[in-house]
Amino acid sequence: MSGHERFAFKSREEFLAKIAALSLEIPFSHDIDGLFRSFPLAGRTLPNRLAVHPLEGADAGPGGAPGELTFRRYRRFAESGCGLIWFEATALHEEGRSNPNQLLLSKQTLDAFKRLVEMIRSFAQKRAGRNPSPVLILQLTHTGRFSKPRGAPAPIIAQHNPHLDPLHKIPPDHPLISDRELDDLQDIFARAAGMAAEAGFDGVDIKACHGYLVSELLASRSRENSRYGGSFDNRTRFLRETTAKIKTGVPNIIIASRLGLYDSVPCPYGFGTDEKDAANSDLSEPVALVKELSKKGLTLLNITAGIPAYRPHYGRPFDKPVRGGSVPDEHPLTGVSRLVRLASRLQKEFPSLAVVGTGYSWLRRFFPHVAAGVLTNGGASLIGVGRLAYAYPDFAWDLMDKGALDPKKLCLACSGCSTLLRAGGPVGCLVRDKTLYRLPR
Ligand SMILES: Cc1cc2nc3c(=O)[nH]c(=O)nc-3n(C[C@H](O)[C@H](O)[C@H](O)COP(=O)(O)O)c2cc1C
Repeated sequence: MSGHERFAFKSREEFLAKIAALSLEIPFSHDIDGLFRSFPLAGRTLPNRLAVHPLEGADAGPGGAPGELTFRRYRRFAESGCGLIWFEATALHEEGRSNPNQLLLSKQTLDAFKRLVEMIRSFAQKRAGRNPSPVLILQLTHTGRFSKPRGAPAPIIAQHNPHLDPLHKIPPDHPLISDRELDDLQDIFARAAGMAAEAGFDGVDIKACHGYLVSELLASRSRENSRYGGSFDNRTRFLRETTAKIKTGVPNIIIASRLGLYDSVPCPYGFGTDEKDAANSDLSEPVALVKELSKKGLTLLNITAGIPAYRPHYGRPFDKPVRGGSVPDEHPLTGVSRLVRLASRLQKEFPSLAVVGTGYSWLRRFFPHVAAGVLTNGGASLIGVGRLAYAYPDFAWDLMDKGALDPKKLCLACSGCSTLLRAGGPVGCLVRDKTLYRLPR
């Protein structure tokens, strides 16, 4: 193990020396112009290669409609200058919500989503002038084993998992979601895609990462006597069939997926994990899955890794853990390089797929240089940022206008936003937006 350290680089040379000392492959480009090249995606044009990642805000109003703070967050993202805004995990029914304040797309909340999309397009257009507007993707989700629709854990699981069940004290006799319920859920996702199109979104993402229901299905080898468990075909059925249903029902919508390529849970309970050593990934199944999904209409893939409640640093390298969490025995640059490598493997395997890279916020002012290096090497088509967008929503304009980021506005990877999410929201940056967001006592 390489040992955790907080970000303390005083110069580019120190940063590059650390990468070399850790024997990591993290590209770096002095020239960042590649970030500002437009990108064609399914008949649209993205004005540049920068994206805002999905970020749950837990600030919905009654019934799961976007609330006042939701509008504020997305207005800031609209003005970010990014070519793509990937909306946060949005529930499709009450029982699959991550908390009582999660957004919920339904007939009752559809008009509020429409207003939100209109507001985003209008603010983005005002700021961007004649540049094309950002492409908007909505993330559709079922929180599965981490569901808390009324604030207390109410897990819905696809398989028992000795590594994850103890996190929420799930007893051995807790029932599994039935095949029938999963069949119905496919239709709920497909209907939601129709509503997303009606609301004005360009695309939808069937969220399949971070241990939530659809990603748990991908790992459900121990689910017996089920059309959704055991074999690779069965485990990927939900994602494959739902993708096909959306393609048929809403032909012009962009079909995307946020896919957890490697959850790091030991086999047989993990997805993308090497059978012999859980510290390594084995991408043969994720690659086979993406091949199938591409045939069914997938054009946009946002990659991620880990399960926040299990190994949070695999998905978002940090300086400080969430309140009550522990510091991993891994250098954050190791986490960054893992995410860069995963994206690159998929992009090289599927050159015509638009792959979005993840895990850049920890890099502070070096993020644009690593991002540009990745693009130059063909390691991704687009680069997304998560926590940085909470802290510094107009970062893309600063990069375009001034060629550099303002050190006083950067994300400090302090996990404050993640702590707020765990506490039930609302979520934002505790450091850069502190008049609005505070830690609960
Ligand atoms: C508070 C918080 C909320 C998040 N919400 C979502 C979400 O709704 N959907 C999702 O796929 N990822 C979510 N993520 C993960 C981010 O999209 C992103 O993958 C992660 O933060 C790593 O990128 P970064 O290093 O730029 O922050 C969330 C992360 C944080 C910190």
